Amino acid sequence: MRVCVVGLGYCGLATAAGLCQIGHEVIGVDVDSEKVAALKRAEVMIHEPGVAAVLNEAGPSGRLRFSTDLTEALHAVQVCFLCVGTPSLPDGLADLRQVETAARAVGAAMNGELVVVNKSTVPVGTARRIRDLITQQTKERFAVISNPEFLREGQALNDVLHPERIVIGSSEEWAIKLLLRLYEPFNCPKFLMSPESAELAKYAANGFLAAKISFINEIAQICECVGANVLDVARVMGADSRIGPYFLEAGLGYGGSCFPKDTRALQGIAGQHHHDFSLLEAVIEVNARQRQRFARRVLEKLKASAGTRVAVWGLTFKAGTDDLRESAAVDVIKILAVAGLRIYAYDPTVKRPPPGPWWSDRVSVVAGPLEAVTEADALLLLTAWPEFHDIDFNEVKRRMKTPMIFDGRNFLADRQLEKFGFTYVGVGLGRVV
Ligand code: UGA
Repeated sequence: MRVCVVGLGYCGLATAAGLCQIGHEVIGVDVDSEKVAALKRAEVMIHEPGVAAVLNEAGPSGRLRFSTDLTEALHAVQVCFLCVGTPSLPDGLADLRQVETAARAVGAAMNGELVVVNKSTVPVGTARRIRDLITQQTKERFAVISNPEFLREGQALNDVLHPERIVIGSSEEWAIKLLLRLYEPFNCPKFLMSPESAELAKYAANGFLAAKISFINEIAQICECVGANVLDVARVMGADSRIGPYFLEAGLGYGGSCFPKDTRALQGIAGQHHHDFSLLEAVIEVNARQRQRFARRVLEKLKASAGTRVAVWGLTFKAGTDDLRESAAVDVIKILAVAGLRIYAYDPTVKRPPPGPWWSDRVSVVAGPLEAVTEADALLLLTAWPEFHDIDFNEVKRRMKTPMIFDGRNFLADRQLEKFGFTYVGVGLGRVV
């Protein structure tokens, strides 16, 4: 099938690469001409494993092309995916301007029957809005389907190729049939429903995962009061198939471009309908508190004063990505830098300090984890990059001024760092004095 993907962020790019992998002919479109030029050279600007390899392999044969020209791109295309951004507005609701602009542009550019598939995470009712906008631009036959994505950054291509479920929100039989044909190689449950249910299902899934994280973080707080270990508690909870073991890792809480934005948007949707979603409000509040609490603990324990030198391992919102959006690590660093601490940070994918105001002068990004800890009064692990687990901690201790580790992800809990002479403080790992 000939397919067009509009919007080449991590979702659009992974979708384009994945659809190409399963045999479709794909053209990706973006308004950013620099990005498109780079993709034509098979240069991927984001950290998304496997995507560059698909570009290199499929590019020369023309099965995966890139363009800024939507009219040309839509020529003879049967399905057009919308994968544009839906950032937060100041009131938390989703900013739909990119979706609306893309819908109008597709309506104006389409030159034959077309199924428009929205993958962006959007408020309930957006599929209808997209349909109205396209109707204003064209007389051609078309249908709009809501088909939310469930991709994780850092493994987006893998998630496209191995979906756990596919959601198809539409009542247009011919369009549903076409999309089912496009997704035929995927052997997973395919749920057919109204566009409204599909749109809400995405927010509900992200909201629930965020709730699991905030719940275990609250349990971690109780663990510290009563002397219990959250890793043991989570293990027991996770062994219950009704709960499941995932998203029960206590730590600094969730960040990134999805959970924070989507929980706020869901809260906004509830508010628009005069529903007080107090459970979700607590999820968001617990998450914000978690990183502040961690930073406060570091300041108290260190009895930190201006110039105290702190090493930081990990800046991205999670391992496996170069994304700093709503990263808990960045928020922690900000609190410490504002308090006057000097920070030496290392992250495998970040080469310069996150842009910031005056306090960012106190943050340096260094080339390696051992360089970061040299002469440090404490080490903070803020993102669980696998390489941090197997570092030579004798060498770390030798380099540090004070052998103290604050682990915001409980990632080194099994390394028994006390045996190396460290003071080790995790999140929810027994009573904190
Ligand atoms: C998330 C969802 O997992 C995807 O299913 C969804 O498609 C995507 O959002 C989206 O809406 O586009 P992603 O933001 O890439 O994917 O990241 P996750 O792997 O879900 O992690 C989110 C945050 O939660 C990270 O900061 C991570 O460190 C944190 N987290 C995760 C925890 O603090 N504890 C956990 O147990 C799990």
